[in-house]
Amino acid sequence: MPDIATEVRRRRTFAIISHPDAGKTTLTEKLLLFSGAIHIAGSVKARKAARHATSDWMEIEKQRGISVASSVMQMEYRDCVINLLDTPGHQDFSEDTYRVLTAVDAALMVIDAGNGVEPQTRRLLQVCRARNTPILTFINKMDREVKAPLDLLDEIERELGMTVVPFTWPIGMGKLFHGVWDRRADQMRVFAPGEDRRGGNEEILLGRDNPAIAERFGLEWQQARDELELVEGATPPFDHAAFLAGTQTPMFFGSAINNFGVKEVLDALVELAPPPGPKPALQRTVEPTEPKFSGVVFKIQANMDPAHRDRIAFVRVASGRFERGMKLRITRTGKEIKPNTVVSFLSQRRELLEEAYAGDIIGIPNHGLLQLGDTLTEGEALQFTGLPFFAPEIIRSVEVADPLRTKQLKAGLQQLGEEGAIQVFRPMVGSVLLLGAVGQLQFEVVQHRLETEYGVKARISGSPYHVVRWVTCPPENGGEAELKRFIDANVHRMAWDAVDAPAILLDHAATLRAVEGNWPKIRFHTMREHA
Ligand code: G4P
Repeated sequence: MPDIATEVRRRRTFAIISHPDAGKTTLTEKLLLFSGAIHIAGSVKARKAARHATSDWMEIEKQRGISVASSVMQMEYRDCVINLLDTPGHQDFSEDTYRVLTAVDAALMVIDAGNGVEPQTRRLLQVCRARNTPILTFINKMDREVKAPLDLLDEIERELGMTVVPFTWPIGMGKLFHGVWDRRADQMRVFAPGEDRRGGNEEILLGRDNPAIAERFGLEWQQARDELELVEGATPPFDHAAFLAGTQTPMFFGSAINNFGVKEVLDALVELAPPPGPKPALQRTVEPTEPKFSGVVFKIQANMDPAHRDRIAFVRVASGRFERGMKLRITRTGKEIKPNTVVSFLSQRRELLEEAYAGDIIGIPNHGLLQLGDTLTEGEALQFTGLPFFAPEIIRSVEVADPLRTKQLKAGLQQLGEEGAIQVFRPMVGSVLLLGAVGQLQFEVVQHRLETEYGVKARISGSPYHVVRWVTCPPENGGEAELKRFIDANVHRMAWDAVDAPAILLDHAATLRAVEGNWPKIRFHTMREHA
């Protein structure tokens, strides 16, 4: 039987963060190519095509099987097992996207060299920064006419507040893109266009003073050399501790579609990104190498057949060894489950999983027993912390067309809320429920699923609110008594969330600032951690 510590050491679990069209799908395919999982590479593209081609939710549901399978991709590269978690792009942007980032140990940021830092990248990066997730940076599309590399470097440092350390440097761009200089290996990898090369037979030129390089690549080489000298004078050496703390990012240039510069990133991921580390629980800190299994549910996805209300709980293993058929205890309820048909997401297809270690993701089909944030153990009463709920950015009111179906609406919303598909708020005054989301699409999904799964035609319409903050009051500021005073004074704009945490709903950021000014003892939170 494999040794747990050895298995943990070779795990790398990461996600790609990028703005739509920067090249995430293309890069994912190339990464999979390197590990030999070519089949799924095709399906990544097919899935994206399907998403683009239709806004029909029935179609999307047919696709759910695929999307479950490709939302976690596992591959082997060198002696590592790499788990790549998909973060949905722009079109299905939702809270899931944020929560997936809580289940990774590193992130790969892909930037379109023509566009620089774009809004979605900034947003996702903020979530990573809040958790000090180490970030690797890939500058894509160097085969196009793009921004000057020095400008890109400046832009990333300025906009994202991280020190950038180039590991490679481009020689030319667009039609005159000749390759990248690998600073660590002191060599040039010559660019050759072509879609599906697996690498291995590329041309390498050694040494910066190699006259052959100057001869062949003339002006572009001269310029790259000058830039390299500038960069070397201005950037600090790579500091692994700063990278692990999320304050320094190694940067790579390339062209995903040409499978160029991709291998360097993959090598860096294996060499620099951390294996799974200790995870804090309310009771104690859990080491990944502990013999007993523990894990946490970070995502719930409705299964293919809506009639069965089947869901798959995505569990990130935190410690020990998971074996199929073992008994697991849900800390929140004390219930035991014995999942026999555990889904893994191994390379090509959904298949039954035999064992898993810290960093791996397992999928447990269930009928609502498991909720977001649930901890599973072999018996110990552990509750992991840190699964965040984010203050919604869009707030809508929801009503049922047929008042006789109010009960079904509430039941449906309760379940969808538990899945994390949407956040539900009950105003303290009045009876109209409010829904909160970070992506518009979440409302469409909820409306569609309420109708098909719960037989409820819901009317979702605008609300006067645009800002939500959870409120607390620390004991030294007056605690519960002060919080009650605050709630009483603001009751007309207060609501309870799904776990009865109080939140204030406001029309405008300026109103929030005024309220904050008037109530200095109250804390206003954009994030609530499940505990
Ligand atoms: P995404 O998942 O981040 O949304 O991006 P995706 O990989 O789908 O790439 C977006 C577009 O950019 C695609 O073109 C893709 O072919 C192109 N692309 C990706 N990497 C490179 C690169 O290194 N160089 C160049 N020149 N283009 C690149 P598309 O026309 O939108 O789609 P498709 O018809 O090629 O699939």
